[in-house]
Amino acid sequence: MIKKPMKITCLLLILLGTATVTQADTIADLQAKYTGEGAGPFTTESGRVLWQSEQQNSDGKPRSCGACHGSDLRLTGKHVVTGKIIEPMAPSANRQSLTEAGKIEKWFKRNCKWTLGRECSPQEKGDILSYLATQ
Ligand code: HEC
Repeated sequence: MIKKPMKITCLLLILLGTATVTQADTIADLQAKYTGEGAGPFTTESGRVLWQSEQQNSDGKPRSCGACHGSDLRLTGKHVVTGKIIEPMAPSANRQSLTEAGKIEKWFKRNCKWTLGRECSPQEKGDILSYLATQ
């Protein structure tokens, strides 16, 4: 018979372990998919450059990923148009971020179009995920 505090500790460790594995796994799975599409290898530096680059879009105002996600990804962001609060993107600050491949792809599509005026390539998405994983 395991004592109660021990049981709770075990349960917490299992929960923590699962969350961590899922986040890294999701990124690895997506990058494997992009590699299958002919992209790679992926670099943190290319991802950072793209993430921080400013684009001139149709309205003439500069756009960047940080416009909504903020410059420090460990903090909450704020949607530049709607004012909606965006949870921190950094895995180090938010265990829920970057855990669902479907959600990541959906937002990649929408945000790359808004920010760059086009979809991101598999190479760009893989690079950005490498960068985000280090935050
Ligand atoms: C106009 C505002 C805006 C801009 C600019 C923006 N995003 Fe986002 N992004 C959002 C919102 C809103 C979410 C959804 C947040 C949520 O539901 O937790 C999101 C979520 C994401 C997610 C999914 C996060 C997760 O935890 O699954 C990724 C990946 C992402 N954005 C990438 C980018 C990239 C790459 C750029 C630049 C090319 C960018 N975003 C620029 C608003 C923006």
